[in-house]
Amino acid sequence: MPQLQSDIDDDAGAVNDSRTAEFAEAVLNGLAHERRSIPSRFLYDEIGSALFEDITKLDEYYPTRTEIGLLRAHGTEISECVGPVETLVEFGSGSSRKTRLLIEALNGLATYVPIDVSEAFLAEAAERLEADFESLTVSPVLGDFTKTRELNGIQPHRPLGFFSGSTIGNLNHQEAHAFLENAAQLLGEGSTFLIGVDLEKSLDVLIPAYDDAGGVTAAFSLNLLARVNRDLSGDFDTDRFAHRALYNARERRIEIYLESLADQIVHVLGQRFDFAEGERIHTENSHKYTVERFQDLAARAGWTPAQVWTDEAALFSLHLLLLP
Ligand code: TRP
Repeated sequence: MPQLQSDIDDDAGAVNDSRTAEFAEAVLNGLAHERRSIPSRFLYDEIGSALFEDITKLDEYYPTRTEIGLLRAHGTEISECVGPVETLVEFGSGSSRKTRLLIEALNGLATYVPIDVSEAFLAEAAERLEADFESLTVSPVLGDFTKTRELNGIQPHRPLGFFSGSTIGNLNHQEAHAFLENAAQLLGEGSTFLIGVDLEKSLDVLIPAYDDAGGVTAAFSLNLLARVNRDLSGDFDTDRFAHRALYNARERRIEIYLESLADQIVHVLGQRFDFAEGERIHTENSHKYTVERFQDLAARAGWTPAQVWTDEAALFSLHLLLLP
């Protein structure tokens, strides 16, 4: 596998130590505040990532299958709009099914550059895609895609960026603006960017997508507390917390919380935290856009909205942006 761009120690033990230290700091800090929160990136340990995979297959969770449907239906048109492209840069892991569909649609792609914090994900993507697409070179970049400033020292010529799953909705507007500006810097003039963005819709459809009847999303959410127990010697009673998905109409976003079902005391790394019944830990936001509001955001960050594809029920949108 190609050399990874990494500032993380090669030794697996040291990597885990630094990861645990970062998790510890985030949890102790986040729980100490009056409005408690834990950053959403910690939802995705090995168990969390497997549960998220299960979420993407739920009947209630429309985003994944709708975005895949859009890539299938419009792949050829997307490829025509983008023109000949040698390099595809993917922000975040995404699902390999989507990447594969896009690579197939873009015939003649030479290089695929996935940017991800998971070394295991990058290694697997490299191995599988190089095996299946004979002339494709995978050049992975290890790191947080919101902070990536260079691509293994290479400036690809007019690359296509890809950011799927409405992960941009997990950023607030300021972060999304900064992300789009940074991506413009990274991809350079003449580049194109394909972004999946979830749309505003009726709460009858939206809420179950984040709180399914079978409890898979709740299990994913509560795994964060189980992870604190496993990795940070916590003693959360996961039966006395509940997953909550609420829509904040003013901010146009789903907010995910873990809510205490009783007055209770919890310990993490020897520190004591008192929870009142009904008190919540905020773990994630998922912003919803209209086509116009997303295009405005993109334009303010320097991108020109070129084309947008939506499904018949207007659940999800795929935006093609250009950098003049
Ligand atoms: N990017 C996904 C989304 O916003 C993440 C997600 C889906 C999620 N379901 C969740 C995050 C439940 C936390 C809890 O749709």
